[in-house]
Amino acid sequence: MKGLILSGGKGTRLYPLTYTCAKQLVPIANKPVLFRVIEAIKEAGITDIGIVVGDTAAEIKEAVGDGSRWEVNITYIPQEAPLGLAHAVKIAQDFLGEERFVMFLGDNVIQGGISGLVKQFESNDYNCQIVLTRVAHPQQYGVAVLKNGAVVRLVEKPRDPPSNLALVGIYMFDHHVFEAVNNIRPSWRNELEITDAIQYLVDHGYKVYPYIHEGWWIDTGAPGDMLDANRLVLDELQPKVEGYVDRDSKLIGKVTIQKGAEIIGSVIRGPAIIGEETRIVNSYIGPFTSIYHHVVVEKSEIEHSIVLEHSRIIDIPQRIENSLIGRNVEIVRSPLLPKAYKMTLGDHSKVGLL
Ligand code: DAU
Repeated sequence: MKGLILSGGKGTRLYPLTYTCAKQLVPIANKPVLFRVIEAIKEAGITDIGIVVGDTAAEIKEAVGDGSRWEVNITYIPQEAPLGLAHAVKIAQDFLGEERFVMFLGDNVIQGGISGLVKQFESNDYNCQIVLTRVAHPQQYGVAVLKNGAVVRLVEKPRDPPSNLALVGIYMFDHHVFEAVNNIRPSWRNELEITDAIQYLVDHGYKVYPYIHEGWWIDTGAPGDMLDANRLVLDELQPKVEGYVDRDSKLIGKVTIQKGAEIIGSVIRGPAIIGEETRIVNSYIGPFTSIYHHVVVEKSEIEHSIVLEHSRIIDIPQRIENSLIGRNVEIVRSPLLPKAYKMTLGDHSKVGLL
């Protein structure tokens, strides 16, 4: 069996973070979402993995390399534009050949991995198996209708959803999917939709079955989703202290301190993770916060937030919360007169001032 990860697309909903960074590389609990996807596929016993890449190909290749870090083989499959999930399958045909495969969207995080699903698909003669989960707002997703245990109908982001079963971005296929992707037409949003390809399989008598996922699942498309995913993953992290914590500091609850990090005179209330070579000095880091590597936080308080690498938060008098702070960002107090907020913000930045 092979793996296919979709990591093209633009990530406009995560602007400005993703102006300079592929959305699949934004870290959740200090590990890029894409790395979590690779690990889930490897854990299910699959080591031959293709990654569909678009505009951010160079950055993804640099971060993932040949896959040897995870003992998997990675093949990159360039997609000229985000023309749809079924288009991505189409261009991956040479790589996939006749083998059955799992397709995993590179911006999805799922509780408990995919080993159970892969095992079930391996032991059945299904042509396709799709992961479904019950959601409160099915309008935002592909939605499936079941009858007698099989999938009979799929609709992409319906205004009037026929069920509350959303398609999680994980799909199992055999080679019949190529017949489907070669016979469907682009949708109103000019994409070859994977939901249309699966509907084609259903309509042509192929066996399409669901796999109902009961745990949490997050499509990390928007900033709020990122913070939610961060909260859920941090809650499951096994605490570990590999860095330095001085005597005046306190770690409360599930706290992970990564290698080379220094915690001086600070309180860290978990679940939280502090990245490699990061310095937290005379500060408070509250629950559900991930601070990535090479960050400095001094005389400040922050909680329920994600801070990316090489940023500096220094001497901020009010607590920062619910924030997504990008790479190389500086938030510092400026005592120079005139007394005023002084900012250099990129396009689409959002700041909430007191
Ligand atoms: O997250 C689950 C949903 O994912 C499903 O419920 C929907 O049925 C499915 O169509 C998909 O919807 P999204 O609108 O969320 O897909 P998005 O455009 O965000 O793309 C998902 C991932 O696939 C993302 O990592 C980018 C990548 N991608 C996307 C397209 C359209 C590609 O690599 N190539 C593409 O052409």
